[in-house]
Amino acid sequence: MSGARSVSRSAKASPSRARTVATSPALDLAAVIADPGTRIIVCCGAGGVGKTTISAALALAAAEAGRQVVVMTIDPARRLAQSLGLKHLDNTPRDVPAAAELTAASGGHLQAMMLDMKRTFDEIVEAHSEPARARQILENPFYQALSSSFAGTQEYMAMEKLGQLRETGKWDLIIVDTPPSRSALDFLDAPHRMSRFLDGTMIRLLSAPARAGGRAYLKVVGAGLAIFGRIIAKILGGQLLKDVSHFVGALDTMFGGFRQRAQATYDLLRQPGTAFLVVAAPEPDALREASYFVDRLSTDQMPLAGLVLNRVHPSTVPALSAGRAEGAAENLASSRTDVVVASLLRIHAERMRTDAQEQRLARRFASAHPDVPVRPVPAAAQDVHDLTALREIGDHLTAPVTARRPRKTPARRASSRPTA
Ligand SMILES: Nc1ncnc2c1ncn2[C@@H]1O[C@H](COP(=O)(O)OP(=O)(O)O)[C@@H](O)[C@H]1O
Ligand SMILES: [Mg+2]
Repeated sequence: MSGARSVSRSAKASPSRARTVATSPALDLAAVIADPGTRIIVCCGAGGVGKTTISAALALAAAEAGRQVVVMTIDPARRLAQSLGLKHLDNTPRDVPAAAELTAASGGHLQAMMLDMKRTFDEIVEAHSEPARARQILENPFYQALSSSFAGTQEYMAMEKLGQLRETGKWDLIIVDTPPSRSALDFLDAPHRMSRFLDGTMIRLLSAPARAGGRAYLKVVGAGLAIFGRIIAKILGGQLLKDVSHFVGALDTMFGGFRQRAQATYDLLRQPGTAFLVVAAPEPDALREASYFVDRLSTDQMPLAGLVLNRVHPSTVPALSAGRAEGAAENLASSRTDVVVASLLRIHAERMRTDAQEQRLARRFASAHPDVPVRPVPAAAQDVHDLTALREIGDHLTAPVTARRPRKTPARRASSRPTA
């Protein structure tokens, strides 16, 4: 672990300084998945940081530890989906064939599914309206556009699906991957954004012309907006506005349902059986985003298990400093035969610098969030797309927690110093 390593190295150099370096507590994910009280794990973070990978790896590890697990993936890379036995985007949890052998001994079981956002939306409509009405909505072009493209729909549907999976009581652990949003916060904001949208100006604006003509329309939306509305009507055409109007009319009947469900899932996430994992890459932007998210979870009183710092680059030869490696490479550069050794030394120097930078960022996070446990996961040499690679990631995630970190009271003050 990079955190532990940095402490022991600093400790050798200067014991007094070691105490002032901020380190995060280790995130004990083996304990999190072994705890039968853990019923839901939500992996969130900005796009591309490894949410899907970490979700799948953790699900496999939990099943191997004996849990009955379903992992809901959102956008698995094709090869990862294949390894998980996923061929269809159809909301149906299926057995992961290759995992059966791995989980047999423990009695655990792994299922995986890919979220079909549109199908989930359709199911809500079907569940909350009369069949004829449901058909009317489902066929409505505006609904079709909204259900497949509205920003936040995917986040909202992920929550919705989680609520549904939980209701069945079929699994004792549900691991949820979250959509590839620009911001991790989108996931928590989705239910509110959805109801704001359904209530919002835009919807009123779009639906009003069909509801009320002429003067009445002005009354509903105001003069300024009415001009805007007319422009939109021109662009979109009268037919679409009619569609919207019908859609909103039909939606009125389901409105309460939407709100209630969003609230119920939101409340479910707050319960102690839920564990949020924030996934971040050891890069300034990703960690800044992770910080916002950690703060937001705490504001919303959501149970945060900790941060997974994914794709770190610990050096395998930490005793050889970047400077010394670089110097040695320069000495060798004059001789042609040592070209390979020189380039290896340069690669090592580069890696040591990356490692140092990543540790600086980790310390900065630790000083801002001293109580948030962190689990570093090294970058694998290749993309993670089969069960063997997932297991390796799982091993890093669940490796036993060894070193206790030093008390952090003095560290908090001193650690604001190291900045990247
Ligand atoms: N620890 C890791 N080592 C190497 N590659 C990784 C690691 N974690 C994720 N990846 C790769 O990074 C890419 C993005 O990961 P993914 O889990 O799809 O991110 P997200 O779901 O956050 O968008 C994938 O190709 C995945 O195989
Ligand atoms: Mg993903």
